[in-house]
Amino acid sequence: MSSLLYVSCIISLLLQAGLASKTRHFKWEVGYMYASPDCEEKILLGINGQFPGPTIRARAGDTIHVELKNALHTEGVVIHWHGIRQYGTPWADGTASISQCAINPEETYVYRFQVDKAGTYFYHGHYGMQRAAGLYGSLIVEVADGEEEPFHYDGEFNLLLSDWYHQSIYDQMVGLSSKPFRWIGEPQSLLINGRGQYNCSLAAHLMEGSSTCKLTSNDCAPVVLRVLPGKTYRLRVASTTSLSSLNLAIGNHKMMVVEADGNYVEPFIVDDMDVYSGESYSVLINTDQNPSSNYWLSVGVRGRKPNTPPALAIINYQPNSPSKLPESSPPVTPEWNDYNHSKSFSSKILARQGTPKPPSYAERQIALLNTQNKINGYIKWSINNISLALPPTPYLGSMRYHLKNAFDPGKPPDNFPSDYDVMKPPKNPNSTQSSNAYVIQFNSTVDVILQNANALADNVSEIHPWHLHGHDFWVLGYGDERFEEKDSSQFNLKNPPLRNTVVIFPYGWTAIRFVADNPGVWAFHCHIEPHLHMGMGVIFAEGVDHVRRIPKEAITCGMTANKLMNNGLP
Ligand code: C2O
Ligand code: CU
Repeated sequence: MSSLLYVSCIISLLLQAGLASKTRHFKWEVGYMYASPDCEEKILLGINGQFPGPTIRARAGDTIHVELKNALHTEGVVIHWHGIRQYGTPWADGTASISQCAINPEETYVYRFQVDKAGTYFYHGHYGMQRAAGLYGSLIVEVADGEEEPFHYDGEFNLLLSDWYHQSIYDQMVGLSSKPFRWIGEPQSLLINGRGQYNCSLAAHLMEGSSTCKLTSNDCAPVVLRVLPGKTYRLRVASTTSLSSLNLAIGNHKMMVVEADGNYVEPFIVDDMDVYSGESYSVLINTDQNPSSNYWLSVGVRGRKPNTPPALAIINYQPNSPSKLPESSPPVTPEWNDYNHSKSFSSKILARQGTPKPPSYAERQIALLNTQNKINGYIKWSINNISLALPPTPYLGSMRYHLKNAFDPGKPPDNFPSDYDVMKPPKNPNSTQSSNAYVIQFNSTVDVILQNANALADNVSEIHPWHLHGHDFWVLGYGDERFEEKDSSQFNLKNPPLRNTVVIFPYGWTAIRFVADNPGVWAFHCHIEPHLHMGMGVIFAEGVDHVRRIPKEAITCGMTANKLMNNGLP
């Protein structure tokens, strides 16, 4: 090829890429508003007067530009783009005290980042418990122009699942940090796309059209999915619950799982699927059932004794009326404590062919013991006996500019005592609070063993879905009781799924591997909002010296602000 031709080829390729990928602009205002997500009027956090927040739709390669104005009266706000890795833009991760200063009332912060991978994602508040106050929405990334999904479908629906408390998050946070402890209990309702039916979702009630069920009100009527018979639909399902682990099923229809957390998985077929907070999936359904009927989609609680009715949606076969009640009752959620059912679902999730494989060994192994503890009589969650307390100055700025005393410089432990009995309540429940961080060698491969244990009460061990910022990781395996070194010979290095969230089962362990190739400071934490609030997380810092100049707005608080005022930052 002549060099001229070659150059013009390159130019046209560049032009195509430039034309195909777009910058998508959004102007948002976050504020409290009145809403009745389950037919009880409350205040919640909305965006531009909408709850849930507006759905972002983009294509892989696009740049998202969100000008976020804080219209709250007296508190800061940030938004985290859950599942987006933020390569090269760690200050756009939206984590208060970690990647940026909370945005003050009346101030605006610009989030600008690239969505590099197609998939089902969402965004949410990441300051205090603002996510539980309703600050969330969907972020859908379609394949780049000219690319195709590795499966066929005729239409798609988006289902953002959440749980909802009638008690305000202030009431919840005060209770969680009081002595004696006041537990928030189970949510009043489960929501699908921000709608649920408080006190009314019992199938029997619905069938009889009970008057307590205000199914026709606009705010809280069940979501209706209009389908044509004989087609294939993609359901995008993501959970941003505060507390509840969920299970989703559709009457008479099987589901084929094809995507998990923005990564393709080897397709497999199930009757029902577990969805933990922080996870997302795509499933395909065939509308191959009797077209003269409608069908229930139902979402119920797993892993905790439920005290919340299921959330319902209607699969409405056209041309039936959407108000025609399904002939069969909604699918029943598996027993809440049938963990074998959940483990069998998790073990079916494997990477689709063509997914990047993990490095064959890790340079470092970090074992993280999850325990419930007491600090001065207050109940906390700890990791290797340290309960996370975020510092006033965000780590990203203080680490990048080498500020002293901005956070606890101590090294958190890579392991926990070998004689710790994970099957029993802690012998010595006392713990400490700290803001120390794991500093990870840039570009190294790390294994993390998440080890569950018994909580403070006898015979209690809970589900914790762990979410990593800035990365996808490979899920190498799960096991019961205490992890032993010999278990690593069972790791799946052949086709482990890539994810950003993974569950640890009661009294069990989960092993993951990731490559620390993304300069920044990243939270790794339990996605259960009250658990994170009670300290259940750690901080990973990697390659921070490679981070480019951090926008001022991300660091104008705490010690970085002083430094900026006194002599500027380098
Ligand atoms: Cu979706 Cu740090 O969380
Ligand atoms: Cu947890």
